[in-house]
Amino acid sequence: MLAAQQQEQHIGLLGEAVKKDFPLLHTLMNNKPIVYLDSAATSQKPRQVLDAIQRYYEEYNANVHRGIYALSEKATTAYEHARFIIARFINAMPEEIIFTRGTTESLNLIAYTNVKQLRQGQNIVLTQMEHHSNLVPWQQLAKEKGIGVRFIRITPEGRLDMDHAHQCIDHNTKIVSITHISNVLGAVNPVKEIAILAHERGAQDCIVVVDAAQSIAHTPINVKELGCDFLAFSSHKMFGPTGVGILYGRKELLDQMPPFQYGGDMIREVRFEGTTFAELPHKFEAGTPNIAGVIGLAKAVEYIKSIGMEKIQAYEHELTTYALARLQEIDGLTIYGPKTSEQRSGVISFSVHGLHPHDMAQLLDREGICVRGGHHCCMPLMSVLQVSGTTRISLSLYNTKEDIDKLVTAIEAAKQVFYR
Ligand code: ALA
Repeated sequence: MLAAQQQEQHIGLLGEAVKKDFPLLHTLMNNKPIVYLDSAATSQKPRQVLDAIQRYYEEYNANVHRGIYALSEKATTAYEHARFIIARFINAMPEEIIFTRGTTESLNLIAYTNVKQLRQGQNIVLTQMEHHSNLVPWQQLAKEKGIGVRFIRITPEGRLDMDHAHQCIDHNTKIVSITHISNVLGAVNPVKEIAILAHERGAQDCIVVVDAAQSIAHTPINVKELGCDFLAFSSHKMFGPTGVGILYGRKELLDQMPPFQYGGDMIREVRFEGTTFAELPHKFEAGTPNIAGVIGLAKAVEYIKSIGMEKIQAYEHELTTYALARLQEIDGLTIYGPKTSEQRSGVISFSVHGLHPHDMAQLLDREGICVRGGHHCCMPLMSVLQVSGTTRISLSLYNTKEDIDKLVTAIEAAKQVFYR
């Protein structure tokens, strides 16, 4: 089949065809049909996920791992089955999947539980494009231990400077933590290459952490292939509910790590004299978990798989190519990040000469268009880009070329308001 025909097939399967699954996309905002271009902040939820959550509450709401009655067993089975589904989704083992509150908590968990292992003279390597959630925990950890944090630079194009990565990672590097896809630049980072570099050149026990918050819903992820030790992501950015995150960790590392929080469900035996802890993964899941959220997330994974990640990726690639081309037609518009769709996601940050990103977001809001304006929780990156903020669109499988066209028309109209 010709490439063009294949692409048309993807168009047919996604965009308008899946919009029917997302109730919110059929509502109005400011009396205008909603154009949702903020999926990097949070994705919309398909009916299948909403129904799964409601079914749990209506039909088998009970606590997990505790009850000896059928309802609780049903809830426990669904909860543990969700772990299995998520493990298979990223090619991990179920005991390597820890449920958290989100990417931020997953990353904090690693930082807190690795604190004792850091020694004077060691360093942590991050990149200039990290979200605060993959920067502040490490910065605090480094401060506490009196060690250095190094930031791999970005190139003028907005990609990772691999020459600088080679300079930053040395035999004293204990932790390398890097985003898979930048939530500002859209650049897809060569994490596999970074992982090889870190394991070859870093300290003997150097760990590689990947922040997959912006990639998990857009690209196939296989933790074995990536070669990472830890991977963190959130349910709400992949069509699941808020309040659930995943931490994947290699079993032998998780086994060595101390618990992160203490309480019910994470213990083996508690005596007045002391406590022994549960096996993986429960050692890291203190208290009643977000059962409905986890069940909803499993349904979201099934939803993604029912479409096929390769198809999603191909569709979004085409949509991104279209959006980049259309945006670059606008006079006075600057894109931050790669200008072509190669090794790039549908996160596109831009500014329009003379318009503050917040004003732009407000004017688009009036037209029913949802975008994010500001520093995107990446203040250090903003200083590298020498801006206070940007306007950002972020595409997902339910967006269409028509959404982009509406955006472009609204940006042109916004310019008229300001340039008048
Ligand atoms: N991290 C999310 C974003 O980039 C909230 O918008």
